[in-house]
Amino acid sequence: MAANLQDFPMLIDGEMTASRTGEWMISVNPANESELGRTPAAGAEDVNRAVEAAEAAQPAWAELTVFERGNLLRKVAGALRERAKELLDVEVADTGNTIGSLKADVEFAAQGLEFYAGLGTEMKGETIPASSANLHFTLLEPYGVVGRIIPFNHPILFAAGRMAAPLMAGNTIVIKPAETSPLSASIFGDICRRILPRGVVNIVTGFGNPAGDALVRHPRVKRIAFTGSVATGIAIQRAAAEKSVKSVTLELGGKNPLIVFPDVDLDTVAKAAVGGMNFSWQGQSCGSTSRLMVHESIYSRVLERVSDITKSLKVGDPKDPASQMGPINSARQYEKVKYYIGQGKEEGARLVTGGGRPSGKDFERGYWIEPTIFADVQGDMRIAREEIFGPVLSVFRWDKVDDVLKLANSTDYGLTASIWTNDLKTALNAARRVRSGFVWINQVSAHYIGVPFGGYSNSGTGREEGLSELLSYLEHKSVNVALR
Ligand code: NAI
Ligand code: MG
Repeated sequence: MAANLQDFPMLIDGEMTASRTGEWMISVNPANESELGRTPAAGAEDVNRAVEAAEAAQPAWAELTVFERGNLLRKVAGALRERAKELLDVEVADTGNTIGSLKADVEFAAQGLEFYAGLGTEMKGETIPASSANLHFTLLEPYGVVGRIIPFNHPILFAAGRMAAPLMAGNTIVIKPAETSPLSASIFGDICRRILPRGVVNIVTGFGNPAGDALVRHPRVKRIAFTGSVATGIAIQRAAAEKSVKSVTLELGGKNPLIVFPDVDLDTVAKAAVGGMNFSWQGQSCGSTSRLMVHESIYSRVLERVSDITKSLKVGDPKDPASQMGPINSARQYEKVKYYIGQGKEEGARLVTGGGRPSGKDFERGYWIEPTIFADVQGDMRIAREEIFGPVLSVFRWDKVDDVLKLANSTDYGLTASIWTNDLKTALNAARRVRSGFVWINQVSAHYIGVPFGGYSNSGTGREEGLSELLSYLEHKSVNVALR
């Protein structure tokens, strides 16, 4: 009954609009497969309109003082909090993520806006004493139009929080949300439309191709920032390089290790191991510690505790605040997770819990999978090496420090790592040797505004969430002034 579906238009040049293609994408609720609404399926012409609007708005936006831009970003943060309920209703239904987690996402996005709003005067250049006959200094200037492509798992967090740095730097932006959870971007577009000058923020919904691809290839978008899978990140680097020179940063996937040394409190570490899997996003969070590596002297005891906690997780309606896990985001992702569970069984890993669809009337439709643990996983298995992006934890046993670090560093990824021990030297040596961009010691999952986040290896290039993210949206210009 597509005719009765609510429309969630996109934002181009200050107006909520459909696509010139006339095409729409239908959004599905992964908890029950019902149709929630439709968003425009943008084509290259829509992307071009958005880039032109952003380009036209950019000089006046950059002319505002950093305090004026900061104040406008703070207003957007305020509006996010005021309209949080409306955003959450749509976002929980569209993503399947649990409401408690998404509440935290909205707040984190608002705090990100406020953080960058206060950093305007940190966009400093330098003076260089290169000669005495001249004055040499640098100016940091915006690129112009930034293209921002985001994944399905944290839609509002990435749309709102990750536009703060580019806008604060004086750029305008075109955002491309993911096709399986684009609805909240329409509400967010309405927020931006009411607060910011027209054209400063544009949101183009649509598929990776043509919409995302057209944005990446657009000749007048020099700065691209992407969050998503490695395969798409590589495709974007290639496309961006084909006809012009662009600055591209990538925040990609992870297969992150959590290393447990023998001296830890077993209950604490077991709880953390379950927390680190981000089951409230069904494991669909890039920083999830999906490889649990436990020293053999405590392996069975930790595994038993982790398994008990995992079995006790309440899987159910993501709108219910009591639910600790919801459905997988989309049919495609659901198939992928099921495929990897099959691989784990085939390759001889031991299925400790989960692996199937939860039973009961509530789970007859929708993309439900039980929280799943494989034990006795070997380093060469696919569930040891490849990102599943689902609620599947792989548990490994280790004996020597050198071996566990080799195992930790044995994938193509390098996003996060978590190290558990009460011995300072052991912890810091492991932190230094692990090839990951973001390391936790005796903690998991947490992001801290101001602390740079990003990956080694195929997990990406560039850092976000700190001052360096702001500076990454600026060109550097050197000025040489003759003094005599
Ligand atoms: P995806 O790579 O399939 O899609 C991400 C976005 O790229 C979507 O908006 C999609 O429409 C767009 N896209 C697809 N093909 C494109 C193309 N050829 N040109 C331009 N745009 C294109 O990723 P998905 O499935 O949405 O998200 C899951 C992935 O994201 C996981 O691998 C996860 O680890 C990663 N991720 C990384 C994070 C980080 O900060 N490092 C955070 C969250 C997710
Ligand atoms: Mg959806």
